[in-house]
Amino acid sequence: MGNCFESCSERNVNEDENVGSSVNSKPSSRGDSDTGRSSNLSYPWSLKPLITRKSEASSALPAPTKERDIMPSHHLKSFTLDELKNATGNFCPESLIGEGGFGFVHKGCVNGGPGIELAVAVKKLKTEGFQGHKEWLREVNYLGRLHHPNLVKLIGYSLEDENRLLVYEYMPNGSLENHLFERRSNVLSWSLRMKVAIGAARGLCFLHEAKDQVIYRDFKAANILLDSGFNAKLSDFGLAKEGPTDDRSHVTTEVIGTQGYAAPEYLATGHLTTKCDVYSFGVVLLEILCGRRAIDKTRAREEENLVEWAKPYLRDKRKVFRIMDTKLVGQYPQKAAFMMSFLALQCIGDVKVRPSMPEVLSLLEKVPTPRHRKSRSKSFGANSSSMSSKRFLRHN
Ligand SMILES: Nc1ncnc2c1ncn2[C@@H]1O[C@H](COP(=O)(O)OP(=O)(O)O)[C@@H](O)[C@H]1O
Ligand SMILES: [Mg+2]
Repeated sequence: MGNCFESCSERNVNEDENVGSSVNSKPSSRGDSDTGRSSNLSYPWSLKPLITRKSEASSALPAPTKERDIMPSHHLKSFTLDELKNATGNFCPESLIGEGGFGFVHKGCVNGGPGIELAVAVKKLKTEGFQGHKEWLREVNYLGRLHHPNLVKLIGYSLEDENRLLVYEYMPNGSLENHLFERRSNVLSWSLRMKVAIGAARGLCFLHEAKDQVIYRDFKAANILLDSGFNAKLSDFGLAKEGPTDDRSHVTTEVIGTQGYAAPEYLATGHLTTKCDVYSFGVVLLEILCGRRAIDKTRAREEENLVEWAKPYLRDKRKVFRIMDTKLVGQYPQKAAFMMSFLALQCIGDVKVRPSMPEVLSLLEKVPTPRHRKSRSKSFGANSSSMSSKRFLRHN
C-alpha cells in the first residue's frame, strides 16, 4: 500500500467551531409541526400544490441504541492502526486535507482489492475520552448502515487503544466550504451551486424520511463534500441523533452543533427536530447565495451574522441582488436567485411555518437551471467585461 496524497497540499485545513451547552427542558407530546410533510407550501407565484417527494434509496435503518457497541455491518472493514499509518505516510503533514472540530483528516491509499489502490480520507479523532468515542461510534453506526448517493461512503474504521479512526471514500473536490470561501479556489458557478444545494437537500431528505429517522444536527458547508462531478455528499455524522419516537414531537438533548447554523428554538429549548436541520439548510443556502460565512468575525459588527444581515433583503425581488455573491459577477438568472432567496427565508423562518426537507427539495427542484431556460434571462448587473480573472467551474 503506497500513499497517494500528492495533491493534498492544495487544500487548506478547515476551522469548525463546535459549541456546547446544556439546557434543561421538558418533553411535550407530539404535534404536527415536524411531521406535516405534505402541506401545500409553494412559491408565491406557483399555483400547483406540492407533491411530497420520497427519497429514492433504501431507508431502513436499525437505530443504534447502545452507544458503546459497534453495530455489525458487513460493509465496513476493520483496519489496524499500522495499515492506516502506511496508508497516510504516518499521518504526515503533507497528507493533511482537512480539520474539523473532532478530527484531522488525511488523504491516503488502501488496498481496494487485487491490484487496486483506493484513495481514501482517514479521520483521526483528536477528542479523547468518552466524548470522542461517542462521536466516532455515531459515525460508524450511522454511516455504516445508511447508504445513499448523497451520503459519503464509510469504508471502515480502526479502534486500537485510545486511537479512533474512520476511513471514507476520498472526495476529490473537498468541501463546499473550501469552494465558497477559499480565496484561491475557482469561483463556483451558479449551476454548480444549484447542483450542490439539490444534492445536499436529497441527503437530508433521505435521513429525515428514513424508517428510523435521523436528525443530522451539524449541517454546514464544511460537512458537505464534493466528488469529482460536484455531487454533494453529507459527511461527519458525529452529532447525528435518532429522531423522536413514541409520538413525541422532538428529542430533548444537550445543545451541540456549530455557531451560526443552529436553529434558535433548539438553542433556546434543547428541543431537536428535523426542522433544526431545515434551519441549518437555510443558512447554507444563504452562504451559497451570498458567498459569506454564517458567522464572519472579520466583517463589520452588523454584517457578522449572515442570517441577521441578509434577512431584510430576501423577500424583495429588487433588493436580493444586493446580497448576492459578488464573485458571481451577475452570472445568475434573476428569477432563480429570487426563488432561492425566498426558500432560504422560509427555512430560517419560525419553526411553526418552516417547511420540511421534502418540501424544500421539491421547491429547489422547481428552480429553473440555466440550461433549461426557455429564453435568455437577464442577470443582475451582468456585465461580461467585468468578469473577474478567476475561472468559473462548470458542469460537464
Ligand atoms: N472523505 C473526504 N474526502 C475529502 N476531504 C474530506 C473527507 N472527509 C473530510 N474531509 C475534509 O476534512 C474536513 C473535516 O472533516 P469532518 O469529517 O467534518 O471532521 P470533523 O468531524 O472533525 O468536523 C472536511 O470539511 C473536509 O474538508
Ligand atoms: Mg465536520
